[in-house]
Amino acid sequence: MDTFIREQIPLHTYTTLRVGGLAKYFVIVNSIEEVEMASQFIKQTNLPFLVLGGGSNLLINDNGYKGVVIHNQLKGREYVECDDGSVTLICQAGEILDEVIQDTVERGYWGLENLSSIPGTVGATPVQNVGAYGVEVSDFIECVEAYHIPTFTKNFFKKNECNFSYRDSFFKTEIGKKYFITAIHFRLQKKSNPKITYNDLNKIFSNTIPLQSEIRNEIISIRSEKFPDWKVVGTAGSFFKNPIVSKKEAEALRVMYPELPMYDVDDENVKISLGYALDKICNLKGYRLGDAGLYSKQALVLVNYGNKNAEEIKNFSELVTKKIYEATKIIITPEVNFID
Ligand code: EPU
Repeated sequence: MDTFIREQIPLHTYTTLRVGGLAKYFVIVNSIEEVEMASQFIKQTNLPFLVLGGGSNLLINDNGYKGVVIHNQLKGREYVECDDGSVTLICQAGEILDEVIQDTVERGYWGLENLSSIPGTVGATPVQNVGAYGVEVSDFIECVEAYHIPTFTKNFFKKNECNFSYRDSFFKTEIGKKYFITAIHFRLQKKSNPKITYNDLNKIFSNTIPLQSEIRNEIISIRSEKFPDWKVVGTAGSFFKNPIVSKKEAEALRVMYPELPMYDVDDENVKISLGYALDKICNLKGYRLGDAGLYSKQALVLVNYGNKNAEEIKNFSELVTKKIYEATKIIITPEVNFID
């Protein structure tokens, strides 16, 4: 137990934003048995816990975490061929998402390629229903395996039990947070199925039927243009969610800002491009205050240019929230999870 449970571990080295104080306890789990051992420890100590995957969507405060951080390192992938020409990939949650996508592309199993180059682990993807370039991970999830930490039980969640929506799921709720995601079953297709409706892709592939590897390479290239390299600079990708407003509010905004991109979510709601609003309406692209700033090539991306100060990032995000409210009357919310 002594080496299994470590104490006072600095969390800034485990998050892509590169901030976060010390974890009171820190556990790396490589097997279900170790998840159970960690759960026993949590029960004994009666402390809260935080699951850490790739740390690419967390803002951990400077005082650290006064509970148990469980770092998911469950590894393994298994492909099961189905009779209908599809394939189920059973992937352990600690696998690196982009390595898994690379493997599916090399095998010619279609589905996840549009999510290429997103940092983080597979286990984090259902929590906030990761999405990019016209697809969401929930489009391919068949079921999620998760361990209920308080009762030491293994559970299967079918897709409809995960309550997926835009950057949201059951696993973000108070009840859902008690589950440690151990594996995900993805349903992939052997038949070519390019998804190129997204603007940037459509422009490039408009008159062709691209190979899966061409889509992956193009997305890697687009992302390297728009996003900073998280291995070089502190970032968590999009820091805020694109806000969803009523049709009535959207109409009022369209009158004020005719060029503001909007997308219908359903009959009543419209999604607004916050990147555009930050950039073209509030003039905040490249805006920097101290070590926090909005990236010069994509205003929705917050960048930590140096220090380990979570407070500075939090204050900066509040300032941005205020400026957007003043211009649009929209209250934006972070996509990044704040851990206090
Ligand atoms: N725009 C600007 N200026 C900017 C940024 C964007 O004018 O500085 C405009 C763009 O020209 C475009 C629109 O705003 O018309 C939307 O921008 P973009 O297509 O780049 O994507 P996004 O809405 O900013 C979302 C996801 C990203 C995902 C991309 C690509 C959210 C919160 N973000 O960004 O996801 O990679 O689409 O599909 O939904 C993430 O969640 O961490 C993430 C990176």
